[in-house]
Amino acid sequence: MTNAQKWVTIFLVLFILLLVLSKLTKREESSTESTSTEETMQNGETQQISAENLIAKNKCASCHGRDLNGSGMGPSLINLSTNWEKDDLVSYLQNPSSFLSSARMAMLKDKYGQDMPAFKNMSAEELDALASFLLDIK
Ligand code: HEC
Repeated sequence: MTNAQKWVTIFLVLFILLLVLSKLTKREESSTESTSTEETMQNGETQQISAENLIAKNKCASCHGRDLNGSGMGPSLINLSTNWEKDDLVSYLQNPSSFLSSARMAMLKDKYGQDMPAFKNMSAEELDALASFLLDIK
């Protein structure tokens, strides 16, 4: 091999090495990117279905008190299980006014002088998680 040939070979080898390296680092970058979006998506989903988040997002505490134990704007949500079955509670959250034929609900509405808002946009999973959570507050 002449000197010139040696240099060309060295140059070629270096060039190929660089190419391979840049491909490798690119692949790593894109794979870390995709895992991080997956994580945020997963977080988003679990957040949506967590009852605590639904309660925060829908400002239940603004009427039912910081610990959901009642305020001047709404009744306490502790021990709901003495009055509610889960299916009824789910329907109630979607459409509270349909329960005003119950003397107890009519009395509560009178006492607080305002309506419990209807949460019509919650999904079945969200309502289910929320109702289970509420029924467990003792
Ligand atoms: C604007 C005030 C307000 C907000 C916000 C609110 N509520 Fe109410 N809630 C009331 C009032 C007032 C009542 C009493 C019944 C009525 O007026 O219909 C009530 C009643 C209830 C009851 C029945 C209580 C019982 O003793 O049977 C449940 C359960 C309930 N709310 C859950 C929730 C949840 C869960 C949220 C949030 C997703 C929420 N409320 C948000 C005002 C509110």
